[in-house]
Amino acid sequence: MSGRPRVYATRALPGEAFGGLSGRVDLRVWPGPGAPPADALRAGAEACEALLCLLTDRIDRELIAACPRLRVVSSCSVGVDHIDLAAARERGIAVGHTPGVLTETTADLAFALLLAAARRVAEADRFVREGAWTAERRWEPELLLGRDLHGATLGIVGLGAIGRAVARRAAGFDMRVLGWSRTRREVPGVAHVCFEELLAQSDFVTLHVALGAETRGLLCARTLARMKPGAILVNTARGGIVDERALADALAGGRLAAAGLDVFEEEPLPASSPLRALPNVVLLPHIGSASIATRTRMADLAVENLLAGLAGGPLPHDALLR
Ligand code: DGY
Repeated sequence: MSGRPRVYATRALPGEAFGGLSGRVDLRVWPGPGAPPADALRAGAEACEALLCLLTDRIDRELIAACPRLRVVSSCSVGVDHIDLAAARERGIAVGHTPGVLTETTADLAFALLLAAARRVAEADRFVREGAWTAERRWEPELLLGRDLHGATLGIVGLGAIGRAVARRAAGFDMRVLGWSRTRREVPGVAHVCFEELLAQSDFVTLHVALGAETRGLLCARTLARMKPGAILVNTARGGIVDERALADALAGGRLAAAGLDVFEEEPLPASSPLRALPNVVLLPHIGSASIATRTRMADLAVENLLAGLAGGPLPHDALLR
């Protein structure tokens, strides 16, 4: 026993702050590959005072109960829907997260998906790789025609930091921007409308709300049917906000033109998902914050939260105060 607080990290993280952690705490790191299975997570965490985790680790009431010494859970993520916050609060466990630093990077990816879905970028890439771009089809007037982003109407669902960052990018594309959020916000260049009106008027809809009881299944068969015919849906928030089967039906039936998805109800996306068979969907493996700089900053913040919590002080980014 070193006398230093014992910390379990479910993955090695990038950056100097994580690199320096082993000099300050008694650190155990899950060696991978991938995330620890539930029993390994429990075995690793049960004697620890702090847990450094990712959004793929389920920190539920049972796990919390199995860790009597636990004082801090620090997640290297902005979303904390994988943590039972009520159970943590009841036990007086501090919970940290990493907001702010991934705003612009995630907004970049939302825009990448808007463009990729609109201009059929993934389909076009497959067309070239699969050998369909032949001499006879060197240039065709109607090959892979998509939709214009410039001049179109963009509906932003959720006007928090990421939604507002997407709105700033949309201004550069001369888009008309509509926005809806549960708490009305005045955002320059964004016309606040009700949710139904946003769906009815937008050529593109992009989702930027947190997953919670009120937003689970927000885009379902009923609300997808309210979207403008031929509209495009982008989701870089959380998969549970969209009913994927209803979305697949809307895409297969031609009601929606395309979708760009970085997040799914179940991750990784099951082999049986009907979305996989649809050519008009761009599928990404939850990489919204995946730039080198941003992932390093997230890791640094997660370590800062962890050390602050172990020192008994307030966390720089306390998820229980959200
Ligand atoms: C988060 O941190 O919640 C994001 O989904 C990661 O990309």
